[in-house]
Amino acid sequence: MWLAVHRAHSLSRTNAAVQSIYDRAFDESLGQAAGEAVCLVGLGCGGGQKDTRYLAKLKSIHSTIDYVPCDVSQAMTRVARDAATAVLPLERIHPLVCDLANAPDLGQLLDTIVSPQTKRVFTFFGMIPNLEPDVILPRLAALLREGDQLLLSANLAPGDDYWRSVGVVLPQYDNAETSDWLLSFLVGLGVSSSAGQLRFGIEEVDGLLRIVADFEFSETLQLSIGGESVEFAAGRTLRLFFSYRHTEKILANRLGRHSLSIVVSQIAPSAEEGVFRVVRA
Ligand SMILES: C[S@@+](CC[C@H](N)C(=O)[O-])C[C@H]1O[C@@H](n2cnc3c(N)ncnc32)[C@H](O)[C@@H]1O
Repeated sequence: MWLAVHRAHSLSRTNAAVQSIYDRAFDESLGQAAGEAVCLVGLGCGGGQKDTRYLAKLKSIHSTIDYVPCDVSQAMTRVARDAATAVLPLERIHPLVCDLANAPDLGQLLDTIVSPQTKRVFTFFGMIPNLEPDVILPRLAALLREGDQLLLSANLAPGDDYWRSVGVVLPQYDNAETSDWLLSFLVGLGVSSSAGQLRFGIEEVDGLLRIVADFEFSETLQLSIGGESVEFAAGRTLRLFFSYRHTEKILANRLGRHSLSIVVSQIAPSAEEGVFRVVRA
């Protein structure tokens, strides 16, 4: 269901100008690469479409390439692995299922997959919006070794008025495909989608704006989840989704708090998405 949302609403799929900022970022990063061997680690790889495009370019300058498609969803790592087989042999692809917010030993684990001498290129596409910055950014900073690269992308708030511009992009979230995807979580627990209402909105957290989706129960429900009984009282809300929106300046400030700095930016003409090459300051 998420792949359907992505196909219908991700600008990287629906807008050629946005696709081209990824290609520009990949081309620019190749100029930084050195050595025979490289490992692309796709953090939150999703379906792996962007990583696969990047792998095809890396192939032009590296003779040995490994790929670690890493995601909290096992299904996504499989989709990404299958996509990457268009470019790499299966034995060079090492799917990894992990929750990045709870994996302080990810660096050690990667060293068991590829040699610690191998330079790594980390992609972190579309992930900044869905994780708490103070949790994930120190992790990213700790992962980077000298010679490694990090490319990350963020959905941006276009325009000078931060609140207004987040309102402009709200329909990319408040739509039928996204609602079906979010409600599938509750439906899977046995809750009828008519047991309440899904509401999208915008909220501010520590100077950052994020789009949120909350389900408000219209009737009191008793659910059995993993053998535990949980009551949702009528009127109670359950947070199903949040997605932070940054401006380039706000993103640079947030990264800076964790010793990460943007060295090259590729911003879409619509100013709604950017790809950034980031180093540890
Ligand atoms: C917006 S998608 C981006 C997918 C892909 N990088 C792209 O740009 O097309 C977010 C991906 O992150 C994964 N994800 C979300 N939270 C995660 C976490 N805590 N740890 C690892 N992966 C996570 C989701 O399963 C999903 O595949």
